[in-house]
Amino acid sequence: MFGITIIILATLCTAHMQLNFPPPFNASNNPHRTTRADPYLQYPYNCCGPHDRWMYPCRGYETLLGDPQGAATATWPAGSTQSWNISGIGNHYGGSCQVGFSTNHGETFRVATSYEGNCPHRNNGNGPDGQNFDFTVPADLPAGVHLFTWTWYNREQELNSNCAAVEITACIAADTPPAPVAFASRPEMFVADDVNGCVTPHTTAELRYPFPGPEVVTGDGAYPLQLPTGNCGGVGVQAYHGETGEDGH
Ligand SMILES: *[C@@H]1O[C@H](CO)[C@@H](O)[C@H](O)[C@H]1NC(C)=O
Ligand SMILES: *[C@@H]1O[C@H](CO)[C@@H](O)[C@H](O)[C@H]1NC(C)=O
Repeated sequence: MFGITIIILATLCTAHMQLNFPPPFNASNNPHRTTRADPYLQYPYNCCGPHDRWMYPCRGYETLLGDPQGAATATWPAGSTQSWNISGIGNHYGGSCQVGFSTNHGETFRVATSYEGNCPHRNNGNGPDGQNFDFTVPADLPAGVHLFTWTWYNREQELNSNCAAVEITACIAADTPPAPVAFASRPEMFVADDVNGCVTPHTTAELRYPFPGPEVVTGDGAYPLQLPTGNCGGVGVQAYHGETGEDGH
């Protein structure tokens, strides 16, 4: 009798976590979606060779802002504490993440909070349970529907990022502390591993952001934190803006 040999073919693309809340554009859990869901939101931007790279920041979905399919999937008062979460099929035992906003339709994204190490929470599985992260919505964000984005670098030098539309309401609580740094003066969200000449640490360290902004959540220290190498002076504008990945995997 012959045993059954199951050959598991490793895919070339291994990132595999995506923003779960707030539901990103074209995600299966986005209530405003009218098309087939995007099955690749878990994949890294630098996945699978030069012709399969996705466009930073939002895989092109930033153009859905203002469209019924791009309606807000969360409402957050400026200055409030909120949480976001991620889910997928592989947390890569951590990494470093940033969340932030664009108030100019994706032209620039500025950091709200940087999580240096242990993002995703390495010992908490593939979420969304156990993969909740708190942050403060910058108190001086203008009211309106803005782009929220999550970025993640794991120790395999993979970038993943998803964007969601979020409605920011005016900060009304009298005791809301002022923003530590004006939103317009916060650093832009960090971009690397996307053929822009900047590379994150590999295997033995988790990313320390060169410009983490005023709100930093430190990880668990399981890995040392290391700055990226290469030409990392710039930000989002340096990233790859080539063709979208589509279904070419
Ligand atoms: C969502 O993704 C699917 C699969 O890639 C695609 O067919 C569809 O056009 C996308 N929807 C939007 C609104 O871009
Ligand atoms: C994800 O975050 C949202 C908003 O905080 C929360 O309502 C939801 O319960 C979270 N999901 C899980 C599985 O914790």
